[in-house]
Formats: sequence, structure tokens, C-alpha cells
Amino acid sequence: MQPQRTPANNLPEPHPDSLQHSKRVSASLVRAIETAGGSISFGEFMQHALYAPGLGYYVAGTRKFGADGDFVTAPEVSPLFGRVLATQCAAVLSGIAGGRILELGAGSGALAVQILQKLEELDCLPERYQILDVSADLRDRQQQLIREQLPSMLGRVEWIQQLPAGFRGVVVANEVADALPVERFIKVDGEVAQLRVALDESGFVWRVATAPEWLTAGVRAIEKDLGSELPAGYQSEFSPGLQGWIGDLADSVQDAVVLLFDYGIARHEYYAPDRNSGWLRCYFRHHAHDDPLLYPGIQDLTAWVDFTAVAEAADGAGMTVGSYVTQSQFLLHGGLAEEMADFDKLDQRQQYELSRAVKLLTLPGEMGEHFKCLALSKGSASVPAAITVSDRRHVL
Ligand SMILES: C[S@@+](CC[C@H](N)C(=O)[O-])C[C@H]1O[C@@H](n2cnc3c(N)ncnc32)[C@H](O)[C@@H]1O
Repeated sequence: MQPQRTPANNLPEPHPDSLQHSKRVSASLVRAIETAGGSISFGEFMQHALYAPGLGYYVAGTRKFGADGDFVTAPEVSPLFGRVLATQCAAVLSGIAGGRILELGAGSGALAVQILQKLEELDCLPERYQILDVSADLRDRQQQLIREQLPSMLGRVEWIQQLPAGFRGVVVANEVADALPVERFIKVDGEVAQLRVALDESGFVWRVATAPEWLTAGVRAIEKDLGSELPAGYQSEFSPGLQGWIGDLADSVQDAVVLLFDYGIARHEYYAPDRNSGWLRCYFRHHAHDDPLLYPGIQDLTAWVDFTAVAEAADGAGMTVGSYVTQSQFLLHGGLAEEMADFDKLDQRQQYELSRAVKLLTLPGEMGEHFKCLALSKGSASVPAAITVSDRRHVL
């Protein structure tokens, strides 16, 4: 869900314990900056703030998801998202004997619960539901949620530490690509410069520095694809880990459909001339703002996804890009109406809540169009027809 944008100087006060934690994360970042000789790249800052062992936003024990956290994802809005997704998983699994589900970055575990519940109703449970999450803290929470809500399924769910080999089935990842650290760059005198994080008496500050060769090469490749150079002063992001992430995934699957959901757009929109301050967003207690250097370790840092880059990486790694649709189209054609079949039997309050969830998940100004589903396939598996209705691959 996209909360209202709030100026960074107008955010709610962090809880004192949270602030203490952020001070510990800041101290660790200060040491990293000093050890590096005075500055680190923004990608290193983001990696540290989100994933530093025992400290980072995703690995330390703060509550992130849902009403008490910082942001709400589609499975946290309503089980509708997971139930429709499960219907599409069932369509894929019906063609892959012994196929499994692999969920990447499972967050609170809510999506796993929704998918497993619906697959049980459809009598289509996979023998194994695997979860791969970089956060040990979240893995514990996922286990706890499944133990509480679906104890009979615990034996079927398996937490893995690395991608499996020869995977057959469906891979799902909701809002994981946006959590991969990004680098920030700025165009100066026709050259690509890197935005780094340094220190002064006020705290963390930005430094403009010569870009490493790989970053220059990445931005030049984007400019070549766009057919023109980005203008002077133009600032944006580049995800250095995206290609490797997709490449590793492609290597690990044999016969599989991969369904990636995230807020994102095609490259020509991502690097549009008027979009000259990039796509990085920070989430703190349901306020979206633009200062990623604030409150390290207690706010989420996230960047919209360049789906053209994802599609190129998948294509280059031997996967077929099968469809690119908005979340709204995915839900509407994927089985949302069937999930609403008993609407009339619900009481007024339940009807209100369900209508509200449908609006949040499907309306263009909410999650309906900002979020996309990119469907990839490899081997004998194919993307279900329902996900290909209103396919927009031509914009990528
Ligand atoms: C924004 S949360 C989304 C959580 C969940 N999918 C949802 O929709 O609520 C990002 C999740 O991805 C995990 N994550 C980040 N990088 C990852 C990676 N490279 N592989 C697997 N999980 C990752 C985080 O620990 C976290 O669980």
C-alpha cells in the first residue's frame, strides 16, 4: 500500500527503544565508513541498514509488517491476494507431477498461510512448501505463524538456506526485488558519478564521487537502451544485485514458473527525463518519505523495480518471460471473482472489510497498477493462461 508522503522532518517520534537500536546501527555504520576511509557507497549503506547481522532492519526483531509496523504488503491487506495466487499455483502444479512451491522472502509468513489454506481447499497441496528468507528473525516468525495458524502443515513447510538444485514447481516472491540494495548515481558533466555516504559533524551526509567502472557501465547500458544520455544533474538508482539474483534463480529451476510481484515499471518510465530524483522510498510507521539516511535500522528502505532489467536478466539466463501484468489484472483474471462468490452471505461489517481490501489491492491509485506481476518460466512449465490476459510485455 502506498501511504501518504510525509516530509522527513515531520515524521512521528520513534519509540525510545527503537531510537536506541537505531543508534547502535548508526554506530556500526560509522565504523564501516571510517574503516572504508571516509565513505561507503549507498548500496553498502542500504545493505548494512537492512541486513547487518543482528542489527539490520530485516534481521533484528522489530515489527515491520501490518498495522503495528511500518508498511503493509498485499498479503497483509487481505488473504485475497494469497488465495488468488494459490489458484494460479494450482494451475501450474497440475502440469508438474511432484512439483513444489518455493517462496522467496516470506516476511511474516502470511502469504504462505494463505496459499497453503487455499491449496488444501483445492485438494492440490504440494508435497513441500519451501521458504528461503535471508532473515533468521523472520524465519522464526514464519515458523511461529504457521505453528499457530496451520499446525497440520508444519511438516510440509521447509525453510532452506540456499536455492535448491533442479527445482520443479512454482517460485513466488512478493516485494523481494525492491528490498535488494541499490546504488544511487548522478550525472555530472556528462559522466556518471556515484552517490556515497560520508560523515560530518551533523551525521551521515551525501558525497559525490567518481563512479566505479561497473556502475558507469550499468548506467551507460541503460542510456544506450533509452537511445539518449540522461541529462546533467539527473539522479536515480541502479540495482547491482538484480541480475545475479535472477541468474541464480534461473540456474536453480528446472521446470518452473516464477511469479515476481513488486512495485515497478518499464525502463523508459523508470529513467524518464522528469523522474530525476529516482525511486528510492523510505517507510517509517506508515509514513513514506525521502531521507534514507535517517533512522538506520528502524525504517524500511526500498526502491521501485526496473522490470525491463528483470526481464533482460531472466532472458539472458535462459528463462522465458511469459507475461507482465498489473496486480489488478492478475487478481481480476486470476480468480478474484470466485473468491467473492459468497459476498452476499457475509454480514455488513465483513462486506465492508472485503470491499475495502479489494479496493486497496486493485485500484490504480492504491496497489492495483503500481504493482506488477512478472511471470517467467523454464523447462516444461508454462505460465497459466489467466495471467497472460492483458499482458503488457510490449512496454518492457
Ligand atoms: C518487503 S519484505 C516482503 C515480505 C513478504 N513477501 C510480504 O509480501 O509481506 C522483503 C522480504 O524479503 C526478504 N529478503 C530480502 N532479500 C532477500 C533475498 N535475497 N532472498 C530471500 N529473501 C530476501 C526479507 O527478509 C523480507 O522477508
